Amino acid sequence: MSDVKRPVGVGLIGAGVISAQYLGNLTTFPDLEVRFVADIDLERARARAQEFGVPASGTTEELLADDGIDIVVNLTLPSVHAEVDLAIIAAGKHVWSEKPIATTAEDARRVLDAAAAAGVRVAVAPDTVLGAGLQSAFRAIAEGRIGVPRTATTMVLNPGPERWHPAPEFLFQAGGGPLLDLGPYYLTTLVSVFGSVVRVAAVGSIARPQRTVESGPRAGTTFEVTVPTHSALLIEFESGASAQATFSFESALPRAGFFEITGTDGAIVLPDPNMFDGESALWTLESWKGLTGPARPTPEVVAAVGPSNGRGLGVLELARSIAAGVPERASGALAAHVLDVMLAAATSAETGATVEVSSRVPAVEPLPADWNPTERTLP
Ligand SMILES: NC(=O)c1ccc[n+]([C@@H]2O[C@H](COP(=O)([O-])OP(=O)(O)OC[C@H]3O[C@@H](n4cnc5c(N)ncnc54)[C@H](O)[C@@H]3O)[C@@H](O)[C@H]2O)c1
Repeated sequence: MSDVKRPVGVGLIGAGVISAQYLGNLTTFPDLEVRFVADIDLERARARAQEFGVPASGTTEELLADDGIDIVVNLTLPSVHAEVDLAIIAAGKHVWSEKPIATTAEDARRVLDAAAAAGVRVAVAPDTVLGAGLQSAFRAIAEGRIGVPRTATTMVLNPGPERWHPAPEFLFQAGGGPLLDLGPYYLTTLVSVFGSVVRVAAVGSIARPQRTVESGPRAGTTFEVTVPTHSALLIEFESGASAQATFSFESALPRAGFFEITGTDGAIVLPDPNMFDGESALWTLESWKGLTGPARPTPEVVAAVGPSNGRGLGVLELARSIAAGVPERASGALAAHVLDVMLAAATSAETGATVEVSSRVPAVEPLPADWNPTERTLP
C-alpha cells in the first residue's frame, strides 16, 4: 500500500449488531482511520457513525466513491457477502469480510478471482485465530510441546441465537445454521493447526422447524428453520490427522469452546475459538511417568500472550501485511477452504456419502508474541 495515505482509511458496510464491536476496536488502532459507515438502513448507519465518532455515513455507493478509503469492512449478511465484496473490489479497494466468505463455492471463487485480477486483497473473519489465546496455543504446538498433532475433538452447543439476536432469521437459513455461523471459528482453528482437509463425513438434523425471535422490537415473530440446527462432522486432513466436530443450536446445555488436540507426546485444551483470549492447558505423556493408581498429572498452564482486543484485529493485520508486502494471515483462500469443508459437510449430511475436499491452503505462521495493535507502525 505504498501509494496510500497513512493512517490507512477504513470504511464499514453493515451497521448491525456486530458493527459496534468492530468500531469500538478499529477506532482505537493508530494505524487505521475509520472514515465512513454505510448501510441500506441510512439511519442505522448514521447512528453508528455518530456513536463512534466516524465523520461520514451514507450509502455503499457513497462509501466506495471515497478515495480516502483503502480497506472496506463488509459486515452485511452472509447471503450478500459475495455481491458486496465484488462491488468493493470493483471500486479498487481491499476487502475484510465477515464470515462465511460466501454461501457457495462458486461465489467464493468469483470473489477471489476478481480480487486477483484487480490487484486487491480479500481477508475474511474469523480473526479470533489472531487473538492471544489461540496464538499462544499455536506457538506451543509449533514448538513441539505436544509432539505431532494427530487428533482433535471440538464442540459448541447452545440453545440458539434467537434468544439474543434481534433479527436472527439469517442464522437459520441458507448461509447460516451452526455449521456456517459457528463452524468458521472451529474449522479455521483446526486448519491452522492441521493444514488442509481432504475428506468430510457428517450428519445434520433439525429438532424444531420453527423458531421465535425472543429479543428486540420483533420479539414474538416466528420464522422457518431451513438448514440443520445440529451438525456433527468427521474430518480427515491431508496429513492423515483427524478431528470430530459438533456444532449445535439445539442444546439447553451450553458448551462453549470445547476444543482439545492430542499429539504424539501430549494434549492441549485450547480456549474457545470464538474468543480472543484465554489460557490453554497442556498435558504431556512425560508427566504421567511415575504416577500410580488414580493419580493424575497437573496440566501446565499456557498463558495467553499477545493482543486480545477483539474483532477488527484482522483488519489491522491485513493493513500491516499490505504495507509490508507479505500475505495476510486470515486470507480469503483460507476462508474459501473452510467454506469448502462446511459445504462438503452439508452435502455429506444430505447424501450420506463421504465428500472429498479438493482445495488446499498453505500453512500460516503464528503472529509474533509482541505484535501490538495499539502501536503506530505505519509511517
Ligand atoms: N452478531 C454477532 O454476534 C456476530 C458475531 C460475529 C460475526 N457476525 C457476522 O457479522 C455479519 C453481520 O451480523 P450482524 O449480527 O451484525 O447482523 P445484523 O442483521 O445485525 O446487521 C446486518 C446489517 O447489514 C445491513 N445490510 C444487509 N444487506 C446489506 C447490503 N446489501 N448493503 C448494505 N448493508 C446491508 C443490514 O441493514 C444490517 O444493518 C454476519 O456475517 C455474521 O455472521 C455476527
